[in-house]
Amino acid sequence: METIELAPELRISRILTGLWQVADQEKDGALLDPERAADALEPMVEAGFTTFDVADHYGSAEIIAGRVLRRHPEARILTKWVADPGVSSMDAVRAAVDRSRERIGTDRLDLLQFHAWRYEDPAWRKCLEHLTRLRDDGLIGQLGVTNFDAAHFDLALRSGFPLVSNQVSFSLLDRRAAGAMRLVCETHGVRLLAYGSLAGGLLTDRWLCAFDPRLTYGLTWSQAKYRRFIAVAGGWERFQGVLRVARQVADRRGLSIANVAARFPLEQPGVAGVILGARPGRSDHLHDNRRLASLRLDRRALAELEDAASELDPIPGDCGDEYRRPPYLTATGDLSQHPGAERR
Ligand SMILES: NC(=O)c1ccc[n+]([C@@H]2O[C@H](COP(=O)([O-])OP(=O)(O)OC[C@H]3O[C@@H](n4cnc5c(N)ncnc54)[C@H](OP(=O)(O)O)[C@@H]3O)[C@@H](O)[C@H]2O)c1
Repeated sequence: METIELAPELRISRILTGLWQVADQEKDGALLDPERAADALEPMVEAGFTTFDVADHYGSAEIIAGRVLRRHPEARILTKWVADPGVSSMDAVRAAVDRSRERIGTDRLDLLQFHAWRYEDPAWRKCLEHLTRLRDDGLIGQLGVTNFDAAHFDLALRSGFPLVSNQVSFSLLDRRAAGAMRLVCETHGVRLLAYGSLAGGLLTDRWLCAFDPRLTYGLTWSQAKYRRFIAVAGGWERFQGVLRVARQVADRRGLSIANVAARFPLEQPGVAGVILGARPGRSDHLHDNRRLASLRLDRRALAELEDAASELDPIPGDCGDEYRRPPYLTATGDLSQHPGAERR
């Protein structure tokens, strides 16, 4: 498995395993057994998928990843803090960091990625100040952000916050991160972690020539989210055009569409890693995804994929805008699933 030094003392696998899907699995209130979920992730770690992306609000994900860490000290657990809007006191920041440290079972978080809901409220800068202090105190190894737009990622870096990464949606369906964000990364020598590269599984062979699932079919949260992306990108039929070209590229190499779609953002300048969602105990696609370790897309393949993707309408706005303004491209199409939504 390819690895990369995201920051000093933080080497990660370039294919990360994302556990937002745990929250979906637990949405009916029955929590996964953390030991059994860790058992299910064991073959992935053994195959070199040693880095996990979790968050404070992904159900039991931090606890499950912590159980993996207990068995495999070489594992890296990247978590997030999605603060309630307006929260900015040191006590609140410290409490959030302590909660994640306790759930993961570590003294020091490998990477804490901060999400800001509204830039109009200066609370986001206060939070970053406090997080920087906790980093200096050793409670956080490295500090990153998630869903920052290019202007505010740049501003935060110019303000001296020691950010190493921004986690954003980046895929054949959503190429916003290839715009101004790329320049910010180049200017400051920081990197992106890409999610959404498989559009929740819609950007895979299973959906080539398949009927439109719309939003009524029993979709996972992740599929529902990216079905909204597809709607604003021009609809299901135009999306099929991207799947067809990905299939042609895949055919030449004996790959899956998922391999091609996951590799596409990974080949882009500034991208350190791609986060692929897994459902512990349900599906991990390990057999298919382990091919990513030795795969490179050549220039011709990348150009064909770029051409196909450019037939879609661009996703509006900049990175992360789907969480800040309509159209909310979330699982529910609004912010009702996110903490503190009523105050937004
Ligand atoms: N920062 C943020 O705001 C944010 C937002 C969203 C996600 N994320 C992170 O990104 C991670 C990924 O989530 P995502 O929503 O973007 O989903 P995704 O990675 O685009 O899709 C994941 C789904 O794709 C399917 N899949 C995976 N490998 C496959 C393969 N080789 N062949 C066929 N299908 C395959 C699986 O579906 P089945 O399980 O149905 O088989 C899996 O659940 C999350 O867990 C989270 O860590 C972050």
